[in-house]
Amino acid sequence: MQPTTARDLSGTVAVVTGASSGIGEATARALSVLGATVALVARRADRLQQLAHELAEAGGQADPVEVDVTDADAVRAALDGVAERHGAIDVLVNNAGVARSGPAAEADLADWQLMVEVNLGGVLNATHAALPHLLAAASGTRGVADLVTVSSASGRRVPKPESNVYAATKHAVGAFSEGLRQELGPQGVRVGLVEPGFVVTELTAGRDFGEREALQAEDVADAIGYMVTRPAHMGVNELLVRAVDQVS
Ligand SMILES: NC(=O)c1ccc[n+]([C@@H]2O[C@H](COP(=O)([O-])OP(=O)(O)OC[C@H]3O[C@@H](n4cnc5c(N)ncnc54)[C@H](OP(=O)(O)O)[C@@H]3O)[C@@H](O)[C@H]2O)c1
Repeated sequence: MQPTTARDLSGTVAVVTGASSGIGEATARALSVLGATVALVARRADRLQQLAHELAEAGGQADPVEVDVTDADAVRAALDGVAERHGAIDVLVNNAGVARSGPAAEADLADWQLMVEVNLGGVLNATHAALPHLLAAASGTRGVADLVTVSSASGRRVPKPESNVYAATKHAVGAFSEGLRQELGPQGVRVGLVEPGFVVTELTAGRDFGEREALQAEDVADAIGYMVTRPAHMGVNELLVRAVDQVS
């Protein structure tokens, strides 16, 4: 079935990285409700299987794809496989990420390298693999394709010294996204960045969110759903989303 407007994701295929928990899982659920077939990318296969099962039970279609986003060859094979099985990739949500914050003088270099490899390298690997498919989809009946990257409020400014490398990776994906936007927009690929503040997920486990209602993964998923369901001529290039009482 082909979609009739860009608001309706029926007939489209979306890839969500980091779909095994948190924002990625919530985004996969939201895009499935909007009608997309969703490829669920992450390493924890059991979680992906469970989510795919739940989405299918609810009437959706999901494809669990166990892959480490730092492995460029595996990511390419995985995304080519998704396009082959489902006919296209209309939407890529680059969401997989890790956070290891702390004083630089006490840091383990491996933690810094991991953040660069996942938060930046993973985005590059998935984007490079998806681009031919997104460009092909953009020239199809929907008339547009979507590339959304989950950055962070820490991609706009460095909130505290301990954010050092995490903020650096998020600033980097912001610059990459803007370059892509300028190049790919004229070819029908909308490029957008979501910049959440603190969200209740495994990544922020143990954090004190204070007394007011914290931002949930579903809130960020809602923002992503908004971005990819605009009319084809309208690009939402950047969304900063924070709990109403988050100050920094
Ligand atoms: N929570 C926040 O406050 C917050 C704020 C701003 C931005 N963000 C960003 O939001 C994104 C999602 O984070 P989250 O808060 O939802 O955390 P989360 O629940 O820990 O989810 C992280 C996801 O990334 C996946 N992942 C990590 N390393 C991977 C790898 N090498 N290959 C494939 N998948 C990998 C994990 O899956 P597996 O472990 O199964 O591979 C998991 O699905 C991240 O980019 C994060 O930087 C979060």
